[in-house]
Amino acid sequence: MVKLAVLCSGRGSDLQSIIDSIQRGELQAEISIVITDKPNVMALERAEKAGIKNICVDRKNFDTRADFEAEILKNLVGIDLVVLAGFMRILSPDFVRKFSGRLMNIHPSLLPAFPGAHAHRDVLAYGVKVSGCTVHFVDEGTDSGPIILQSAVKVLDDDTEETLAARVLEQEHIIYPQAIKLFVEGKLKIEGRHVKILED
Ligand code: GRF
Repeated sequence: MVKLAVLCSGRGSDLQSIIDSIQRGELQAEISIVITDKPNVMALERAEKAGIKNICVDRKNFDTRADFEAEILKNLVGIDLVVLAGFMRILSPDFVRKFSGRLMNIHPSLLPAFPGAHAHRDVLAYGVKVSGCTVHFVDEGTDSGPIILQSAVKVLDDDTEETLAARVLEQEHIIYPQAIKLFVEGKLKIEGRHVKILED
């Protein structure tokens, strides 16, 4: 069974979509551990409720990013794929290299448009008519790695950050488990910037 580690910072709804997909029997993988960088967040509760090992590696307890990441890495021994699901920290190039091709993220815009921590706000400010979400492999940049799957949603005239985020999130909950399933089934082939999805 492919072993996943899911890293989160807060609410954990993307985590929940992965748990649900596994529980429905659609995704043949095991979440070995959920790690958060903050205590008392909903992601930890969701993991606990699903009977998944969960720990908080509180960034505040570490002087440097290297020490913080070393503690996380201790918990990733034997992990096949690291899934960033609302993990609000930038990982160091060292960390990213260790998991090259085995580290995924989801971002709530159609990359390369609107990277960064305020995608919905930036989308609305710019006035684009279409937004969405992107699952990508993580490289050493921010939201810049090879794209695996994307899904588009219309931006409506009366959208607020909250209403847009909610519609995008529905799509996130569909495509993140799908992207992980493709990885688990060995169907993703990275060629430079391109991720080829191999046919059955
Ligand atoms: C999602 O919008 C995801 O795209 C972004 O952070 C949010 C996490 O939400 N990276 P949740 O914590 O999974 O509910």
